[in-house]
Amino acid sequence: MKIAVVGSGYVGLVASACFAELGHEVICVDNDPEKLAALVRGETPIHEQYLPELLARHRGQRLKFSASLPEAVRASSVVFVAVGTPPRETGDADLSYVEAVAREIAQSLNGYKVVVEKSTVPVYTSEWIRRVMQLTGAKAADFDVVSNPEFLREGTAVSDFLYPDRIVIGADSERAAQILQEIYAPLTKGTYYARSAGVIPEPPGAKIPAQLILTSAKSAELIKHASNAFLALKISFINAVANVCEAVDADVEQVALGIGTDSRIGKRFLRAGIGYGGSCFPKDVAAFRSVARECGYDFPMLQEIIRVNDEQRKRFLKKVRTALWTLRGKRLAVLGLAYKGGTDDIRESPALDIIRSLLSEQCSVVAYDPAATERAQQVITGDITYAEDPYQAAVGADALLILTDWEGFAALDLARIKSLLRYPIVIDGRNLYSRETMQKEGLLYVSVGRATVELESSRASALAKE
Ligand code: UGA
Repeated sequence: MKIAVVGSGYVGLVASACFAELGHEVICVDNDPEKLAALVRGETPIHEQYLPELLARHRGQRLKFSASLPEAVRASSVVFVAVGTPPRETGDADLSYVEAVAREIAQSLNGYKVVVEKSTVPVYTSEWIRRVMQLTGAKAADFDVVSNPEFLREGTAVSDFLYPDRIVIGADSERAAQILQEIYAPLTKGTYYARSAGVIPEPPGAKIPAQLILTSAKSAELIKHASNAFLALKISFINAVANVCEAVDADVEQVALGIGTDSRIGKRFLRAGIGYGGSCFPKDVAAFRSVARECGYDFPMLQEIIRVNDEQRKRFLKKVRTALWTLRGKRLAVLGLAYKGGTDDIRESPALDIIRSLLSEQCSVVAYDPAATERAQQVITGDITYAEDPYQAAVGADALLILTDWEGFAALDLARIKSLLRYPIVIDGRNLYSRETMQKEGLLYVSVGRATVELESSRASALAKE
């Protein structure tokens, strides 16, 4: 199949590389000349596992890059639209890029094309795309618009794409639905897995072959917003439960295990912490609320998800204040800048939000992140320096703060950390350590939804052991 993908952001670039991996001929279009030049040179603009390998394998072969949308459209039978839909001040998505692309596609038609929404868009967008294309002169018979939402997570985007929980195709025309099914056939029929076993390792629990869900375009649009809102709801729910745990000295990790093992609830996305961030959940929950309102339903539950999420960052700051008594002039080692582990993305990162608040309280910050430092440097100003590793960050700091769930942060040499810190205090916004471990190490340990490990009790338990 000949495919054009418009937009080389997270979704567009990963989709382009993965479609090429499935055997399709792909042209990835972007109007940013610098980005295109870097892609052509062989660079990978984002930190994403397996993406460099896929780009290296297909670049210049089945995967081409182009600045010309009309040429790409003319050379393809399917056009995936994966341009940005950033939030406007009102919370709803700015669809002007989608509209501009729809107009340009309409002007470039040279036969029947399927236009596929891959960006996260509100319900009714497929209708608007159709309308704009017709207003621009495209004949109804020359195109169909399909919604094919993407559920990939940053950090595991390639695996998520190639080993999806499900593929949703929202099409109101049989012809377009057929074409989309053909594109994904290597995954839904399982031929890709048989032929490429081991190239991209199968993640645990992968569903093979991939499940296909065929819906109307509007249902598919709603599936995307509702999925993200529900995942955000799970996170805010467990964070609210964590706050109750703190009030009664219960342990949120035990509670999450107890509720998550109910298969109707599920264990995933029940990790309490400083809340969700990133380019999707904050934007999509707000956009979904806005869309629902426009359609006549208020949906206040969505506002509560956002409120709990914001509160989590404030509660964390309060913990830092409680542990350190005064903040002014304190030196803090901060582990994590990215909004989650495994990515260099800092958009809507709770870590950056917390760092900014600490800087405004006149703390000095020494931060370490395995991938996001360069990006953070461009946006954070103030008394902040960057370390080469967690241990360098800890030297002489009054406390160590863990703000991102990078795997490596859960495997620190704690004795070494303790010897480097001025005060043996670890404040963990991601619950990466067990209380028992920290007690054994003799650290004052503050986490989320669990009782603080005090120094006194750790000494007492050490004495008891002796
Ligand atoms: C999310 C969804 O998981 C994807 O399915 C979706 O395709 C994507 O948004 C999107 O719409 O493009 P992503 O933002 O990459 O993916 O990251 P997640 O792994 O979902 O994490 C989002 C945030 O929630 C992070 O800040 C993470 O630290 C936080 N989180 C996640 C928790 O605080 N607790 C959890 O239990 C899980």
